[in-house]
Amino acid sequence: MKTIRIAIDGPAGAGKSTIAKMAAEKLNYTYVDTGAMYRAITYKSMEHQLDLSDEAALVDLLKQTTIELRPSETGQQVYLDGINVSNEIRTTEVTSNVSEVAAHARVRQELVDRQMVLAQTGGVIMDGRDIGTHVIPDAELKIFMSASADERARRRLLDNEKRGIPSDLEQLKADIIKRDKLDSEREASPLVQAEDAIYLDTTNLSIDQVVEKIVQLAKEKE
Ligand code: C5P
Repeated sequence: MKTIRIAIDGPAGAGKSTIAKMAAEKLNYTYVDTGAMYRAITYKSMEHQLDLSDEAALVDLLKQTTIELRPSETGQQVYLDGINVSNEIRTTEVTSNVSEVAAHARVRQELVDRQMVLAQTGGVIMDGRDIGTHVIPDAELKIFMSASADERARRRLLDNEKRGIPSDLEQLKADIIKRDKLDSEREASPLVQAEDAIYLDTTNLSIDQVVEKIVQLAKEKE
């Protein structure tokens, strides 16, 4: 039996991170949330009051920044220069700015290089927007996960409620559609399904059903 690399891509709120985390636990694999890395540099850039359209300034800052994803009992924790920013990177402000930061080709290159290193060992599930197309183009298993915008907004609402973040369903839906558009239409590695990815529409599936499906697909490749 060998351990494999699993790439999970898809639009905002498709359930990628919840599902990837659970599948990683079942398979005893490492989970890597690449969206958290884009969020972390967005948060730091905002703290430094950088102009988010200034690619050179963002890249300079990123080069002096460490971003670590550390496992913990309560799920993966995100450390920015040694400080836990797991909650700070999920605020509405960061969410509404992250796609602008992630659209810069040189910001992406810097983070993709780091993600490639994290994916070098087998036994990894990585989720994001360009994992199957750019970060691990030769991944043994690629999944492209989506769900209707209504369902994705509903899931985000429940997620936010759990985190104690007050939100409005219609606003969440509008934000999700806007972020999908930015992520899909940018020039630098846009959100697109890899040719060899398996498409999973999770609209009418439970979390457990999707996790089971991925674990089963992984076992076939191991
Ligand atoms: O996955 P999450 O919603 O946390 O990602 C936040 C944002 O980071 C996405 O909307 C996208 O702009 C960016 N992202 C990306 N490439 C990735 C992961 C995330 O561009 N691999």
